[in-house]
Amino acid sequence: MNLLVTGGCGFIGNHFVRHWLGRYPDDVVVNLDALTYSGNLANLADVAANARYRFVHGSICDRPLVERVCEESNIEAIVNFAAHTHVDRSILDASPFIETNVRGVQVLLDVARSRSLSRFVQVSTDEVYGALGTGDLPTTEKAPLAPNSPYAASKAAGDLLVHACHRTYGVPAIVTRCSNNFGPYQFPEKLIPLMIINALDNKPLPVYGDGLYVRDWIYVGDHCEAIDLALCRGRVGEIYHIGSSNERTNIEIVERILDHLGKPRSLIQHVKDRPGHDRRYALDAARAREELGWSPRHDFAGALTATINWYVERRSWWEAVLTGEYRRFYEAWYVKR
Ligand code: DAU
Repeated sequence: MNLLVTGGCGFIGNHFVRHWLGRYPDDVVVNLDALTYSGNLANLADVAANARYRFVHGSICDRPLVERVCEESNIEAIVNFAAHTHVDRSILDASPFIETNVRGVQVLLDVARSRSLSRFVQVSTDEVYGALGTGDLPTTEKAPLAPNSPYAASKAAGDLLVHACHRTYGVPAIVTRCSNNFGPYQFPEKLIPLMIINALDNKPLPVYGDGLYVRDWIYVGDHCEAIDLALCRGRVGEIYHIGSSNERTNIEIVERILDHLGKPRSLIQHVKDRPGHDRRYALDAARAREELGWSPRHDFAGALTATINWYVERRSWWEAVLTGEYRRFYEAWYVKR
């Protein structure tokens, strides 16, 4: 298959590109990435010379470019990772989220339709459902959408466009919704890499509010495996939840990181809460288990340890990231608080 992966230089996308090239030795992967602040070419340096891999610099909002890439590489399917993903950034400015996560998705759908592609997979998030209470059952695919942040609302809108395109034009589309990912190459604005890096440099670890917010953490490799199965075995028009039933409070995550690194808990600093902060997310992934034969293979403790060790060993990767725009954002955000 000739596969177009969009946003392949981002965190989950780069793992997926590597996964696909390794798993399917006859396939070609074209990676279209706009290289915004979190897209990093260095994330795929190890596959750059692979004859079955091609990188194209550009945006999913650029329809002529998407058309041309599909034509030149005879693309058969698209997996869309391209998105603005950070909730805090969406609170500061929603516009890039609407542009990429809504308009960009429609551009990809239009191209998938005009070229009669065999599959379109939209990589989405559990955040489209809004918050769960402590005693609530994990969310099933039938739950109503109730996004609370501009980011989550933009992803919900994108998902609805995918649904509409499937129902109206028969585009063979699938939506996957995953919980919180962690692993190597995650941009250090997200909880786990930010806390590791701050701890390594003996800086305060900013925990929002009481730190008792709950997320279901999944290792990025398990997510990629599930997207692969959804693409190959999923029913078109369906939504598949990808979650690990591994719910943890933020404070537990932060304490585990500090303990592993031998750093004092006094580095924890409770800071002003995120506006509209969702208390808990949890997904029921029974459909993915039953229909796709998927289940996560990595245990949380081992994968978290390996991830922390990766950041310890790859200081050069994240130091290069920190010298960029991220630093300016980081300061602006905390000054604002
Ligand atoms: O649930 C899936 C989603 O997970 C993805 O769709 C999003 O793209 C991804 O960013 C992530 O969203 P979260 O808002 O849950 O991730 P984040 O790493 O920003 O925050 C995780 C939790 O940690 C959340 O409750 C907020 C808290 N937090 C985060 C940061 C960055 C802190 O307490 N301090 C922080 O400095």
